[in-house]
Amino acid sequence: MTEAADQAALRRTFAIISHPDAGKTTLTEKLLLFGGAIQLAGTVKGRKATRHATSDWMALEQQRGISITTSVMQFPYNGKIVNLLDTPGHEDFSEDTYRTLTAVDSALMVIDAAKGVEPRTIKLMEVTRLRATPIVTFINKLDRESRPPLELLDEIERILNIRCTPITWPIGMGRAFKGVYHLLEDRFYIYSGDKHRVSEIETIDGLRAEGLHERFGQDYQTLLDEIDLVSMAGDGFDLDAYRAAKLTPVFFGSGINNFGVRELLNGFTEWSPPPQPRNAEFNGIDREVYPDHEKFTGFVFKIQANMDPKHRDRVAFLRVCSGSYRKGMLLHSVRLNGPVRISNALTFMAADRENVEQAWPGDIIGLHNHGTISIGDSFSEGEALHFTGIPNFAPDLFRRVILKDPLKAKQLNKGLDQLCEEGATQVYRPMTNNDIILGAVGVLQFEVVQYRLKDEYSVDCVFEPVQVHNARWVHCDDQKKLREFIDKNETRLAKDHYGTMVYLASSSVNLNMTKERHPEVRFSDTREQR
Ligand code: G4P
Repeated sequence: MTEAADQAALRRTFAIISHPDAGKTTLTEKLLLFGGAIQLAGTVKGRKATRHATSDWMALEQQRGISITTSVMQFPYNGKIVNLLDTPGHEDFSEDTYRTLTAVDSALMVIDAAKGVEPRTIKLMEVTRLRATPIVTFINKLDRESRPPLELLDEIERILNIRCTPITWPIGMGRAFKGVYHLLEDRFYIYSGDKHRVSEIETIDGLRAEGLHERFGQDYQTLLDEIDLVSMAGDGFDLDAYRAAKLTPVFFGSGINNFGVRELLNGFTEWSPPPQPRNAEFNGIDREVYPDHEKFTGFVFKIQANMDPKHRDRVAFLRVCSGSYRKGMLLHSVRLNGPVRISNALTFMAADRENVEQAWPGDIIGLHNHGTISIGDSFSEGEALHFTGIPNFAPDLFRRVILKDPLKAKQLNKGLDQLCEEGATQVYRPMTNNDIILGAVGVLQFEVVQYRLKDEYSVDCVFEPVQVHNARWVHCDDQKKLREFIDKNETRLAKDHYGTMVYLASSSVNLNMTKERHPEVRFSDTREQR
């Protein structure tokens, strides 16, 4: 075993997926509290600020430093080193979330017990499916009137198409919430409603311990009946099925009241997978890179601007895939085909950014970036291997950029190039005119781009609607057919920031007709970063 393999075996790298308001921020904070990474609840972030409109985003941006510390959080727990990757709360930044999900080995799904499965959860589950990411589920807010637990599990199974195995089961709900029964431990955890209690919690061993009827009343009988039903219906927890993303263990609790969180964290750290092998391409050949590979490798999945109020910097988040990062080491940027000395990478212990001495597979390090690093970039100790599976997702919204002062064209292009490489927007330059078209997944992205162009590049511009409905990256192996396709469709073709050809369809009908007319051309809705 190499040291990298030993260290990798300790790492657990994950993200939380949920619909807004289900309790992701609260749970994040409580996980850090139980993980000993923060002393006091309420320090994670200004919740409201991350959740709503652009003005909040801007305010956040101006105050800076608030959301920042929570981008990646590392804490030790139960002998493991847990890396929690935060994802933007607002769905308008979902492309960032999708890509963060390519950098984790598992995920925690939070569901609001009153609402059940909600749209964003469905979408994020689809993204986790691209990599068969194992999921642990936390059903939150049991201290409020909730839907019956059996109904919730049934809904998860039906809509998200994954088997559920309850690990804990609630006794009562809302005002009558009394706690949970742990099916694997055969133990009750009693709810007191005291938010401040982190350590001592009353427990009772044995499903049929004495005095439970008196204590829980009718809810006890309901629990016995439900546990009977659950045991008859399921085969119990199956680690392999969980690791294969076919089954999700389910915990119930109340995040805000610190309840059920420790049991969740115990189960999660015990079962969740250590860093997994990653697909890469090496000299044109597909290959898997295992964490115990001696040489350092990693890829960039996110770039965040202005992380430090004192320096206008951008930080590229790199997931270490193999080997180890040591301070000051020379890394090879595969895209630039050249060395980059990384002397001051950052690590993200919950409260602060610190300089890292060493990082291992599963860890995330932050690289200061002055515009040379793009999302999807692979770094190595010299091997020209390129990690795959960190795509751009085709945007749903498009705008034409109108520059107020034509003399600022150069700054505009520079700003857009930069924002593109950070994944803040996508830029298309039509082949037959000088328009600049932006693509985004959510409308807020445009507002942020407009704000940042002004703030960082002193470029004033407005965006106007444009007749583009879909963008599809086009590929064709047959050069002659490709030429014919280009000749016939030149006015609807553009190059993206990386020079890849994109078809900008005016409507879905237009897209379908073009596909039918050119069966030899592939139209793709994701684009691998190269
Ligand atoms: P999000 O990041 O998924 O969007 O959710 P967040 O944690 O911000 O929680 C959304 C709302 O739900 C918050 O209330 C939060 O206090 C509440 N909440 C979270 N967990 C629980 C729980 O276990 N029980 C109950 N009853 N509520 C919970 P808010 O009023 O919108 O915000 P705030 O004023 O409390 O910050």
